[in-house]
Amino acid sequence: MIPEHIAIIMDGNGRWAKKRSLPRVFGHKQGVKTVKKIVKFASRLGVKVLTLYAFSAENWKRPKTEVEALFSLLSQFMKKDLKELIHVGVRLRILGDLSKFPQDLKSEIVSACQATEKNANLELNIALNYGARQEIVKAFEEMLAQGVKKPTEEILSSFLYTAGQPDPDLLIRTSGEFRISNFLLWQIAYSEIYITDKLWPDFTPQDLEGAISEFQKRERRFGGI
Ligand code: FPP
Repeated sequence: MIPEHIAIIMDGNGRWAKKRSLPRVFGHKQGVKTVKKIVKFASRLGVKVLTLYAFSAENWKRPKTEVEALFSLLSQFMKKDLKELIHVGVRLRILGDLSKFPQDLKSEIVSACQATEKNANLELNIALNYGARQEIVKAFEEMLAQGVKKPTEEILSSFLYTAGQPDPDLLIRTSGEFRISNFLLWQIAYSEIYITDKLWPDFTPQDLEGAISEFQKRERRFGGI
């Protein structure tokens, strides 16, 4: 079975650049090329939801120049790169709090979401200024504001950024770190985790196939026997 929802922690851009004595931003640039290849391939495979961790709520701690370089790549992605992905039926959703983003970038993101909203082949979630704990707190705030007296798992899920989507079947992290880094804490309760040493810019569609075939060999018991 092809996983319905794959989530990826795209790690290792900085190390990829460092290995080549290049500034870190070159690693992020190469990372965007990988994003495009993986999105197209996932769509061809019939994956329904692909979630990519592009900017965490903690990434503001990076040097201003790197944050700005990432914003510039995101802007280019929204204005240009996404056009290639519209043809493969990608629908964009943002997970995270955009309020702190520059106004121009925010507008580009909103336009990109609108431009893809009729697509139904692959839902592409891009996590931006995202933190899972923040997401859960926000869900509780909204539930309280709406007078929810008795939260259930289903109700809480419906207040998350991923409302209406299935939970990830497979969580991939590149560049060999064994960490979750505040990503989708609620949604990955039963996800299979796959960690590869490949750095994100080197991650290929074949590597995604490898992760999926490993996933297919796992026996998912969801707490049963
Ligand atoms: C982690 O590598 C990567 C990021 C924090 C940014 C990921 C962003 C992109 C791939 C580009 C923008 C994405 C889209 C969807 C247009 P790192 O810098 O932490 O690498 P390191 O651990 O080797 O230093």
